[in-house]
Amino acid sequence: MNTHKSEEPLDWIARFVPLVKSDGTFLDVACGNGRHARYLINLGYQVTAMDRDISAIRKSKNADSIELIEADLEDGSPWPLGSRKFDGIIVSNYLYRPLFPAIIDALDDDGILIYETFSLGNEKYGRPSNPNFLLKPGELLSACSDELRVIAYEDGLLKTPSPAVKQRICAIKSPFDGLPSPL
Ligand SMILES: C[S@@+](CC[C@H](N)C(=O)[O-])C[C@H]1O[C@@H](n2cnc3c(N)ncnc32)[C@H](O)[C@@H]1O
Repeated sequence: MNTHKSEEPLDWIARFVPLVKSDGTFLDVACGNGRHARYLINLGYQVTAMDRDISAIRKSKNADSIELIEADLEDGSPWPLGSRKFDGIIVSNYLYRPLFPAIIDALDDDGILIYETFSLGNEKYGRPSNPNFLLKPGELLSACSDELRVIAYEDGLLKTPSPAVKQRICAIKSPFDGLPSPL
């Protein structure tokens, strides 16, 4: 897969995180080794991080400050967080379409969703190349726009950190209210 192993947050994530109030709660879905969870903890947020394999994040710095949830999100079990709500939700480099409604439902009022993952066309540059893991054109926008107000959306070839075709969105669960502070 053409993801990089950097500890650095993705630019898109770092750009929109400040829209969430400084003492807010964040959920990192499919957190992997936890680079975004640690980034958020260092900024002072309360962080819940979820993955089917939390062995790497559990061993990492600041792991004690992160609520870790080990769960297979694709095995048909109920959403592991029940009706809990978050001020911000991050999903990066992960796609399992049936989760879209649960993710949107887990946003609190005024909650911010920041989502970036691969889309069709990425197969020319590397993995993932399986269409099950690649968004169709406009798919992330469609998945969000009924219930969320879209703040920013991009769909295309990213040249850094390595070439990849991705969609990325930032959206807020307050479609009829004012937007958050300017970026
Ligand atoms: C490419 S990594 C992305 C990790 C992280 N979001 C990031 O950007 O650094 C994809 C993650 O999805 C997780 N994952 C894949 N299938 C999963 C499943 N069925 N349930 C929960 N997590 C899953 C993997 O364990 C892996 O950590």
